[in-house]
Amino acid sequence: MPRDKVKVVISRKLPKPIEQRMVELFDAELNATDEAFTENRIADALERADVFVSTVTDKIHAGLIAKAGKQLKMIAQFGAGVDNIDVKAAAERGIVVTNTPGVLTEDTADMTMALILALPRRMVQGVEALRRGEFEGWSPTWMLGHRIFGKRIGIIGMGRIGQAVARRARAFGLEVHYHNRNRVSPAIEAQFATTYWESLDQMISRMDIISINCPATPATYHLMHERRLRLLKPHAYIINTSRGEVIDEEALISALEAGQIAGAGLDVFENEPEINPRLLALKNVILIPHMGSATIEARTEMGEKVIINIKNFLDGHMVPDRVIPDLI
Ligand code: 8YV
Repeated sequence: MPRDKVKVVISRKLPKPIEQRMVELFDAELNATDEAFTENRIADALERADVFVSTVTDKIHAGLIAKAGKQLKMIAQFGAGVDNIDVKAAAERGIVVTNTPGVLTEDTADMTMALILALPRRMVQGVEALRRGEFEGWSPTWMLGHRIFGKRIGIIGMGRIGQAVARRARAFGLEVHYHNRNRVSPAIEAQFATTYWESLDQMISRMDIISINCPATPATYHLMHERRLRLLKPHAYIINTSRGEVIDEEALISALEAGQIAGAGLDVFENEPEINPRLLALKNVILIPHMGSATIEARTEMGEKVIINIKNFLDGHMVPDRVIPDLI
């Protein structure tokens, strides 16, 4: 089939240059309003499209994949995480799934570091107090937070983003520790002067800051559950820029309400876009709306990757970012 006849349905509005290129290359169907697809709209797209360009807001479960049209060859995710797609079900139907790793690593690590700095230093509380007119001049004891330098950070998930966080953390004088399903190479450990903990429980009970940087998989669902959260030190902060599901959000809220831990910096939530009202009522949290990769550069490069993946696939070449179900 000629490339310009290939039906590519794109579920969300993407950066302009990416949309233009998609229209030049394929029979591309854009989403001008950017309204997230409902389940019915996803079903309709899967029925008609040769390639579906999905994002984190499209829950592509096995039931939807079972009803997909025979022509559907590829689901090209605009994003690194693929937890919104039943990749196994897709593979069983011979549908190739791709993602866009690498190009959002540094931006997501920056946002993680921003939360690591802003939370103990009460940056958002300071901004809000100033806006309320509460700044009556400098005071030796007002708005005191906690020092970052010299503290211990425990990174859960030492992949690309975890390592980029480790690099930043080191530069800020943090002692870097990590837990990962597989130990990373001695060279990487040396690069970040990082200590590996096989036991997640043992690591988290000794850390001042915990950063969640692992993907959401069945194995990491509620990895930070109620019992684990109870292991954290009372002065510990927890940062999550990965997926809401990795933390049992109800248990986290209870721990924060009870002052069992010092605070949380969250970019992701269990029931996005809904935010638990109990979270909103808390003072010791910084909540941002899934902005980890929200730079024009990252989103453009993610779009470039989507195009490269589709073109390679259509040309019969190796697809650079093919997601292999067994490796998830
Ligand atoms: C993306 C993300 O913007 O890439 C990811 O996994 O979490 C975000 O930064 C989003 O998932 C787009 O699908």
